[in-house]
Amino acid sequence: EPEIITDKNQMRKWSRTMRSKGKTIGLVPTMGYLHEGHISLVREAHNHTNLIVVSIYVNPGQFSTTEDLSTYPSDFDRDIQKLMAVPGGVDVVFHPYNLYDYGQRKPSGANNFGSSNDNCEKTICGDGGKVEKKEVVSCLEESGLGHETWVRVERLEKLLCGKSRPVFFRGVATVVTKLFNIVEPDVAVFGKKDYQQWRIIQRMVRDLDFSVEVIGSDIVRDNDGLAMSSRNVHLSPEEREKALSINKSLLRAKSAAEKGQVDCRELINLVIQAVDKAGGRIDYAEIIDQETLEAVEEISSPVVFSIAAWFGRVRLIDNMEISL
Ligand code: PAJ
Repeated sequence: EPEIITDKNQMRKWSRTMRSKGKTIGLVPTMGYLHEGHISLVREAHNHTNLIVVSIYVNPGQFSTTEDLSTYPSDFDRDIQKLMAVPGGVDVVFHPYNLYDYGQRKPSGANNFGSSNDNCEKTICGDGGKVEKKEVVSCLEESGLGHETWVRVERLEKLLCGKSRPVFFRGVATVVTKLFNIVEPDVAVFGKKDYQQWRIIQRMVRDLDFSVEVIGSDIVRDNDGLAMSSRNVHLSPEEREKALSINKSLLRAKSAAEKGQVDCRELINLVIQAVDKAGGRIDYAEIIDQETLEAVEEISSPVVFSIAAWFGRVRLIDNMEISL
């Protein structure tokens, strides 16, 4: 059974004790509601380190106030059961209640994350109370807690998912920095399901000289091909059926590329049309270089077909690596 640690000082103390005994530590950061995709990261971590820490924390810093923080699924007991069933097990589940509580007095209403989902944008008033511009903020800022330091990977955070979720990657990079500073892992494992996230963390670690090795782990899919995601639980059976158009058309694009169709416009149109026809609303569909994440016109180096689309109220993402 894993030890459950909720306090960050206790977490750091555990890690330092273990490291002083010569153990290596692998970290798998998650937001819980675990599925086989998460479990595969734990298995991957076992290939690299003696001890495994899984963090379960739904991070208000990466959700904008219009997003689904308040409905993000959770089932902590079931998560623990699943982790206990992993061969080799998990040593610690780090499950903080609030990573941004620095002990200062909270304004009233603070820590009530995601309570006002309709209040989508903070209005900045200039002279005379005239509205000058609107700025998207995260649920963390809205909560009034005294956190003001953010880690930003400036170019990569603006691409792909960053276009429709402008505060997302800043929130991810910041909370992962905090987790790295608290757990002090030797290795951290991220899924290629969130390809851009994995690359952003890799870049951050390189640029800021974190002493952790970042591993990318393959996407796990359900039998029908849908990439596993905690959010899939919100899909109706009909929406789920329609959502299969993502993986199906990505596979068709990949095989077309392998047969010599290297024109990205053509490949992207194939996927857009299929997802469109199934009733999905595309956020983006791009073929990007695996390293720079910049869109390419023709496949000549290893690329990723990266897509985000809405089915009903659920936004799904998928990524398919193509190396010819
Ligand atoms: P979460 O969505 O819970 O995902 C945790 C990790 O599991 C991520 O690295 C993600 O890429 C990986 N993962 C999810 N579904 C997967 C699948 N089907 N196959 C393989 N890996 C999969 O991503 C986050 O949480 C958060 O942004 C976090 C990094 C924890 C920061 O808050």
